[in-house]
Amino acid sequence: MEHLVSSWCNGRSLPESYILPPEKRPGKLTVPLANNIPVIDLGGHDQTDLIQQILEACQEFGFFQVINHGVPSNLMDEAMSVFKEFHALSAKDKAIETSKDPNKSCHIYTSSPNYATEKFHFWRDGLVHHCNPLEKYIQFWPEKPPRYREVVGPYTAEVSKLGFRILEFISQGLGISLGGLGGNQALVVNHYPPCPDPSLTLGLGKHMDPVFINILLQSDVYGLQVFKDEEWIGVEPIPNAFVVNIGYPLQIISNGKLKGAEHRVVTNSNVARTTASYFINPSNETLIEPAKSLVDASYPALYKSLLYKDFLIKYIAASTDSKALEEALRATV
Ligand code: OGA
Ligand code: NI
Repeated sequence: MEHLVSSWCNGRSLPESYILPPEKRPGKLTVPLANNIPVIDLGGHDQTDLIQQILEACQEFGFFQVINHGVPSNLMDEAMSVFKEFHALSAKDKAIETSKDPNKSCHIYTSSPNYATEKFHFWRDGLVHHCNPLEKYIQFWPEKPPRYREVVGPYTAEVSKLGFRILEFISQGLGISLGGLGGNQALVVNHYPPCPDPSLTLGLGKHMDPVFINILLQSDVYGLQVFKDEEWIGVEPIPNAFVVNIGYPLQIISNGKLKGAEHRVVTNSNVARTTASYFINPSNETLIEPAKSLVDASYPALYKSLLYKDFLIKYIAASTDSKALEEALRATV
């Protein structure tokens, strides 16, 4: 907590613990902006066509952006304002505002939840809190800035609705029903301060999200990159859009039909970047396994069956090594 990047980064050069080993550095900072990441208009009325577009995007990229998604743009703007105001608070206030729940359903960290044990750090602070059911968790959310709960309550309700709508399209597209929905839902408000040397560090290292789906509000500052065909492509900020990506559990359930894409965040030296991830996760006791209807003699199950909580243990053990994780999850043939 005392480590928060935003509390000490002003005017400092990059500390050694933030310098990545050469093979993990971002390399070329300017990569092609992905005008090929699909932008899907959810305002369209042809449901079959929408499902088709979403499924294709999940198959090819694991990523897409949505516009005309139904979340009011003033609510998105207000939420982004309070997220920025929160990260602009003093370190002391941030500590107070994130320690209301002894069970830590709301907390703040720097770099990653593994700060104490990781070999090097990433250039971000992250505020995390549970969102569902709202009545249970809102009492633990920050009360500074004063409008935090008033704005973020309706914001998370709307984004949750959007996430479930997209999950419903995906399950219809695959012809399956997704179990364990409505499990844990969490908001992570990321803050990446201006960085003294973006070539040596990252805001977030290469990773795949261990969730069903993430609905990301990425603001107008570029930084997100997706790994596709062994190359990094940038995700262009589009006003009022959300970036949507699917995570590993959906890759397993779809028996590899859908891709949970690896992604990372690069920093920049000019402006701070604030983003908000809304994660919809399976419940801990949900069995994550290839859907029966997607498995047959020509498409054998690619992955083992695992409870979500056991999947998470393997995910954490693999610590962003995607090959090791894939091996740990693959069905033995
Ligand atoms: C994440 C994530 C991307 C961003 O929170 O898992 O990938 O642009 N965030 O902040
Ligand atoms: Ni992510």
